[in-house]
Amino acid sequence: MANTAVADRVTVTPLSPVLGAEISGVDLTRDLSDDVVAQIQQAWNDHIVIVFRGQEISQEDQLRFAAKFGPLAQRKKAPEQLRSRAEGVLQLDPHVLLVSNKKINGVPVGAFGDGDMWFHIDSGYAEKPYAYTFLYGLELPSWGGDTLFSNMYLAYEALPELLKQRIAGKKALHVHEYKRNEKVAADTDLSNTPHWFHPVVITHPKTGRKSLFVDRLMTARIEGVSQQESDDILGQLYEIGEREEFIYAHKWRLGDFVMWDNLATVHARSYFPKEETRLLRRCTVEGGLVMPG
Ligand code: OGA
Ligand code: MN
Repeated sequence: MANTAVADRVTVTPLSPVLGAEISGVDLTRDLSDDVVAQIQQAWNDHIVIVFRGQEISQEDQLRFAAKFGPLAQRKKAPEQLRSRAEGVLQLDPHVLLVSNKKINGVPVGAFGDGDMWFHIDSGYAEKPYAYTFLYGLELPSWGGDTLFSNMYLAYEALPELLKQRIAGKKALHVHEYKRNEKVAADTDLSNTPHWFHPVVITHPKTGRKSLFVDRLMTARIEGVSQQESDDILGQLYEIGEREEFIYAHKWRLGDFVMWDNLATVHARSYFPKEETRLLRRCTVEGGLVMPG
């Protein structure tokens, strides 16, 4: 048995009434026991977003820890014609993406640039969207740049019965145009743009709960209805899904390590001043095929 004096003791403290919990008592620089990993996984299923504060973790620590929750995913490559929008990624490890507005000799070191970013699902446009995303805060602006998370289980449950009926069994088209705060163009040439159809309501593979699976940034339209009806339905779904009562806004501090369940939440970023630098280190874990709700 491990020496109890140094054994990890997982303490879970909710961060808001709707989602998010801080875990303390765990040293992420160590190789964690199966028992500790199982406790973190349980808290993650329950709280959707987990925050560890005051961490000093290397890239290797981050990847070792993330791999406890599934196979590490590779950074996706933008198609050639969208490459100019996909920013530089001065990062050799294919599992790591730097999220930053920083430039070295005019070349962006990472992705997602400046300013705000609309609510989205990470790689929701892929056949198998990431199950999990892990972000570690390395450099932060003096204000702004919060990451906002909305609870999509609660959003689904809050839908009026008639709206639930209108979306039952429907799929939506998710399109990735490498934008951050602009609607997908209605006339996008899909042959050159990553996209996929997913159920509007999904079943979460771990919790078995129903979750709403659309987002303002990348969901282009609902399949099998007119554009007008699709816009009407999506407008209502975004209004409910982005209600303040379902959101936890994470205010970053240096050393924060934040991980989220990509099938139970959508996330966004608030504006931050572009003269200031923000740098976070991201990795992701692969997900499976999305199950209908
Ligand atoms: C991401 C992301 C938000 C942020 O890394 O997937 O959406 O606050 N980041 O930078
Ligand atoms: Mn994201």
